[in-house]
Amino acid sequence: MRWVVTGGAGFIGSHFVRTAVTEGWADHIVVLDALTYAGNLENLEPIGYKDGWEFIRGDICNPADVEAAIGSDTDAIFHFAAESHVDRSILSAADFVRTNVLGTQVLLDVARQRGVKRFVHISTDEVYGSLALDDSARFTETTPLNPTSPYAASKASADHLVLAACRTHGLDAVITRCSNNYGPYQFPEKFIPLFITNALDGTPLPLYGDGRNVRDWVHVDDHIRGVYRAWKHGRSGAVYNFGGDCERANRDIAARIVELLHVDPALIQRVADRPAHDIRYATDASLAKKELGWIPGPIIDERLPELISWYRDHRDWWQNIKAGAYRDYYERMYGRRGS
Ligand code: NAD
Ligand code: DAU
Repeated sequence: MRWVVTGGAGFIGSHFVRTAVTEGWADHIVVLDALTYAGNLENLEPIGYKDGWEFIRGDICNPADVEAAIGSDTDAIFHFAAESHVDRSILSAADFVRTNVLGTQVLLDVARQRGVKRFVHISTDEVYGSLALDDSARFTETTPLNPTSPYAASKASADHLVLAACRTHGLDAVITRCSNNYGPYQFPEKFIPLFITNALDGTPLPLYGDGRNVRDWVHVDDHIRGVYRAWKHGRSGAVYNFGGDCERANRDIAARIVELLHVDPALIQRVADRPAHDIRYATDASLAKKELGWIPGPIIDERLPELISWYRDHRDWWQNIKAGAYRDYYERMYGRRGS
């Protein structure tokens, strides 16, 4: 079994590659990653450089890079590569359209030319838009797509292109749509690692708006095991939602982080809200449970202490990131928002 994993140096892709290599899910894995600001080879260091996987630095928008990674013997492509951060898409959407839309089409074209047996496209629940706060409805696979941010719109476009390749050209493809992930090696621009690392540094935790926005939290390990099951058991042309059955308001997660780290709650500072901030995500994973046999593991309340320990024990990893180019972004973002 020979696989290509795009975005395998990012947060979720690297968790997938580390687990796949460790557990022997494939004979050989080619990681194709451009190493943007979010890609980091340190995320793959735990598996070491050994037989079973190789790394190619390449851009999914460049057909030559993609052709170098995908061979006629490639059994599956797991497409994680993306520009993934909503706030950055609000600052500038061009890279999101380029990578998430054009890059996906380049991969689909090469996959078809090379006769790849299955294309697993990693999408997001954000393509569905927002749910009401005072409601119990959840996103299902038939919820109409109604993306809010440029990020979500670019991911919805990619989903349509994948389904079009499936219907028009008979490409065997499966789409997964997961809600918010947390876990080790998450880039510290995202809410949970940002709040944990800022709290460890004793710097403010910038909570957008009133902090009542709800996210449905899934551990990255649960997500990637769902992706694996979608490859193995999913129907071609199907979409599978993954969610943690774990809706939490941002302000409650922030309060828990402060409590677990024994830092001053006054570090949580309300800042200007994200424009068009989706108020609530909640994902119904009944189909994945029924057809893929997927079940999420322990909820975030049980896993937050071990996650905090991970960030405490991997200070070098995130401090290097925070001391690099990320600093300019941080100042632009949080300087602009100011409380
Ligand atoms: P990430 O930002 O941590 O990693 C993205 C990776 O893609 C990086 O390694 C980056 O170098 C690579 N990349 C970006 N542009 C590229 C290009 N043009 N060519 C090749 N590589 C490129 O993202 P993540 O949080 O790990 O998300 C992975 C996927 O999962 C994305 O498709 C995202 O939309 C989806 N997703 C994320 C979440 C979440 O909570 N983080 C939830 C559901 C779905
Ligand atoms: O739902 C899946 C999506 O989850 C993925 O598709 C995206 O790639 C991923 O980034 C994530 O999107 P969110 O916008 O929900 O995640 P983020 O970590 O940026 O924000 C989570 C919540 O926390 C959101 O309501 C905004 C809030 N927030 C975020 C940041 C960065 C803050 O209050 N302060 C912050 O500084």
